Parts: sequence; C-alpha cells; structure tokens
Amino acid sequence: MMNTIKALGKQKQSLTVEGQGNKPTKLIENTYRRNTDSDYTEKIEELDRNFNYSSNSNHYWTEPEQSMLYGTPLYESASPRQKMALNHLHWFGMYNVVAASETETITYNQVTASVFAACGYETLSQMLNLETSQERSHIHAFHNVGHKTMKALLGRDAFKASFKGKLYQRTNKDEAGGLTFPSLPNFFNLKWENSLADSQYYVLRFIAKTMLASHKKYYSQYLSELEKTYKFIPASTTGLIGRGLSPQSMQRFFAFNWGGSPFLASQYYGIRIMANMVLKNTEHSTSKYFKKLEKKGDFIPAPTAVSHYHFLDEAFHTTTSMLIARDLYKDFPKPTAYEKFVINLALYMMQHGILSGLSAVVPDRYYADDCSLMYFIYKTLQSPLFEMSPQEALHWVEKCFCQEHQGFHMTAKYHQRLRADFCRFYESFDHLWPVNREMRLMASGGSINKAIQNNIKTFKQFSEAVA
Ligand SMILES: [Fe+2]
Ligand SMILES: [Fe+2]
Repeated sequence: MMNTIKALGKQKQSLTVEGQGNKPTKLIENTYRRNTDSDYTEKIEELDRNFNYSSNSNHYWTEPEQSMLYGTPLYESASPRQKMALNHLHWFGMYNVVAASETETITYNQVTASVFAACGYETLSQMLNLETSQERSHIHAFHNVGHKTMKALLGRDAFKASFKGKLYQRTNKDEAGGLTFPSLPNFFNLKWENSLADSQYYVLRFIAKTMLASHKKYYSQYLSELEKTYKFIPASTTGLIGRGLSPQSMQRFFAFNWGGSPFLASQYYGIRIMANMVLKNTEHSTSKYFKKLEKKGDFIPAPTAVSHYHFLDEAFHTTTSMLIARDLYKDFPKPTAYEKFVINLALYMMQHGILSGLSAVVPDRYYADDCSLMYFIYKTLQSPLFEMSPQEALHWVEKCFCQEHQGFHMTAKYHQRLRADFCRFYESFDHLWPVNREMRLMASGGSINKAIQNNIKTFKQFSEAVA
C-alpha cells in the first residue's frame, strides 16, 4: 500500500507548481521528497506482520530507566522478570497514547490539507496525505504489538473497565456539561445529553464560521463534506490533543477553526508540535538504544526497532509541523484578534491538559493528574505478574504515588528539558501570550511537591472508590 502511495507521490511532484519559490516552500518540497524516498514505514509494517511476544519477551525494549514505576520503592524490590515486564508495559502505555494521538492527527491532517491546497500549496497537501497513510501503518503496529504484549503479561480480562468508568457509575455525572441527573431514568438522560451536545456543536460551528467569514473561500473541503452527511467531526479523549483540548465540544470548535482560515490551519501545527516533541523526548532515547544494540551486534527486539523506525518517520512529521507553524504562516494574511485568541486559548489548554504535572510512575508523562494510572497500577499489582491482594496493592499504590522517590526527580528532569525545547520553539511567535510563549503553566506544573499533594487528594477518592 505504501509503495503505491509513494509512486503516486513521485509522479505528482513534477506536476506541482506552487507558492513563490520561497524558503518554506522549498523546505517543504525537500521534506516531502526525502519522506517519499524513505522506507521506514515499510520496515514498521514488516515488523508488525511478524511480531510475536515470546520471541521478544526476554529482552529490554528500551533502557531500563524507561520503565513503568522506575525509581519507585516498588521497582527496587521487584524481581528481574517483573522489571523486564514493567519495561514492556511502559512501551505499551506510551504507544497506546501515541496511537490515539496519531488517530487525531489523521483527522486534523484532513481538516487542514485542503485549506493549504486552496492557498496554492499542493505539495504540502500531498505531504499531509502521505503522513496520514504512514500514521495508519504506525497505529496498526502499535495496536498489534501492544495488544499481544498486554495479553501475554496481564491476561485477556485484566483491564475491562476503567477507573473513570467506575467514577462515572458512582456519580452519574455528565462530564461535558458538569450536570447531574440523579433521579431521572438513563434513557431520558441520554436523550437530553445528546440534544445538548447537538446544540453545542451547531452553536460553536456558527461562531467559528461567522468569525472567519472573510476566509470562506479557503474553508476545509473535508469539513464541507462532513457537513453534507450531518456527521460530527471525530473527537477523542485519549490522545494528547483530545486530552489537551477537552471536552469533545471544544475539540470540535477548534477543528472548525483549523479548517476555517489559512492562519489557523498553519497554527494548528504549533499545537501538533507539542505532541511531536513529547514523543521525540522519549523516542530519541529508544533510537539511541537501538543503535547501541546494533553496534554491539546484539539481538534487537522488534518493538525497539518499531520505535527506531517510527522515530525516523516522525522526524519528517516534526519538520513539517515546524515549517508550517513557524515559517509558512508568514505568507498568509495577518491574524485578526479572534484568530490570535483562538490559537492562544488552544495552547493554554494544551499546557494545562498534558504538560502541567509530573507522573509518579511513568517517566515521560506530564498530565495534571495520575488518576487513571493509579487504577492501572492497582490492577497490574493484582495481575499474575505481581499476585498481590487488593490491600497490598493499595498499600503500594499509596507508597509509589504519595511519597517522594527517585522516579519523580527523573520525570522532573525530562519535563524541564522538554520545556526548554518548547520555549526555544515558541520564542519568535509574536502573536502568543507570554504565558504560552514562555510555557508558564508547564513551568508551574514541574513541582514534585505539588504532584505529591495532588496525588494524596486523588488517592483519598481512589481508595474510597475501589473499596
Ligand atoms: Fe506516527
Ligand atoms: Fe506523525
């Protein structure tokens, strides 16, 4: 499949005439050509086809520091087999989020590609289509490797319900509106909630379209097609953008804006680069680990190779995000006050949603709360891997999440490095509020003490919910 897409890509390159031969256009063409010529996606597809867990189970897939619970008192007392499993679980957890984030990328690539095409940037539009097809292969590989790994380590039924699901059942709370309907029958709630979501959707679309009316001729073809079918824009809650720009009504509001003007289409990539850089912050280390094994002539586990080739594929995607967000927007009309407000609001929400905290048990996760991970660890400790009783598991969850340990310090170090990268990237963006340009929310979320205090509060609710 990738070969056919690439053949079409090569054919089209020579037919493309666009832009004014300026620097970003040339760099975009160059990136597109190098991406088209590469074979990293094909290598991932092959690794995906041949993967079985047992052939890789006796090896670390990344450096041990990139393991779930690394640096916690529990990790210190774990057996060699458990440590290796925690290394594999970290790979699974990370790529579960990456797969969800890349599903979001597929949507937003489609939302924005036709806006760029309408501006005359045909090659860019084709490059986004190529990325989309690559993401489909990546997602398939992450799901396949992750699913087989989880099944082998924790058993088929280990994770049937989420902790959030449990809380939902207990409180009957509508996340979107913050409303509760304790005495009404469920079917009535559902109808009411659906109609509320419908109204929100159309009101927010109306606002975006009205505010961007002067850019009507660029309006995303993808969104127009969707409107004809009365389908909503896909939205998620598990990818980085889905989490950052939640609730779903807000994600969709932003999508109307990304598809509504050339400036906002380009600045969506200033949001996407957050996900690119979070991934790069981790995957670069795995790529170095791959090279170390290769140099020594050691066995290279398939997931390590998937990470390495994914790192190389994603380098093109990161370059694309940088070129569009930092350079290309200068070719478009100057942003209005509304457009500046939208991009700043989105960046602020992303900082708050995915970068304003430190995880106690995962070295490269920076959400404001560790709520869902508490449940994951609690269940993992009761799985065949650790065979703990519910009481023992709860004791260790409290110890790992609510007390200072080495793991927090390592996460804080990664967090600081990532913030420095973001600050370097955003420093030349004049249209950003200082809180975004200097990543101030992220900075305030880098406190170990704050993370522990948050976890103590969450643990109190958690221990009551699972009791
Ligand atoms: Fe990817
Ligand atoms: Fe990507």
